[in-house]
Amino acid sequence: MDVIEAIKARYSVRAYKPEPVPKEVLTELMETALRAPSWANTQSWEFAIVGGQVMRELEEVLGAKAAAQDERYPDIPRPEWPSPYQERRRELGNQIYRLMGIGRDDMDKQLQWFVHMYRFFDAPNAIIVYTNRGLSEWALLNIGLIVQSIALAAVNYGLGTTILASSVSYPDEIKHLLNIPDTKQLVLAIAIGYLDLEAKVNKFRSNRVPLDSVVTWHGF
Ligand SMILES: Cc1cc2nc3c(=O)[nH]c(=O)nc-3n(C[C@H](O)[C@H](O)[C@H](O)COP(=O)(O)O)c2cc1C
Repeated sequence: MDVIEAIKARYSVRAYKPEPVPKEVLTELMETALRAPSWANTQSWEFAIVGGQVMRELEEVLGAKAAAQDERYPDIPRPEWPSPYQERRRELGNQIYRLMGIGRDDMDKQLQWFVHMYRFFDAPNAIIVYTNRGLSEWALLNIGLIVQSIALAAVNYGLGTTILASSVSYPDEIKHLLNIPDTKQLVLAIAIGYLDLEAKVNKFRSNRVPLDSVVTWHGF
């Protein structure tokens, strides 16, 4: 698969088959993704790759916190998005809710979806991405680059991914389970697994704003 095909094929997968991803596949995928660029080759990233019984425990812990609607306290605070980003964000939520038949006022179904998301959409595996506390914003840019590399490499193996900020909203519980010291900050999680192509939600493709609204050309 060439890189253009992989970029076009990738999308956020929100339903997975239960079969776990073999450790050898995850190892090969991560070895490839580690080729991602970083500021002066600082490689300011670490990963906890989760499967099996530990994955089930992680889903239970996070699902219970989400179901109880406990206050979220992510290591990286959740942002306020001003216009026009807020409108885009709302549009995404509306599109997914409409597709899934979740009404704007149906708090029960919304909570179910929310819990499902915190449980990694039932993916068999997850990658928790973290870094040392106290680094500059550039460390997070490095992480953005490797996270996209993971998502693209996954396509090559017939795997789907969801990048999940929500699933690191309760960092103490995750660190406790995975033995991650508090000198680290959790950045995000990646759900990973084989795609359930029958699932309605996986028919969804998000919009993009037109090229001309984000690009200016100079010297052409
Ligand atoms: C930093 C970051 C955090 C995200 N967090 C979530 C999340 O918590 N829940 C979710 O369903 N999708 C999450 N996403 C996926 C985005 O909603 C998705 O990338 C965007 O809507 C574009 O759609 P696409 O990935 O299908 O192209 C996140 C993506 C990024 C880059």
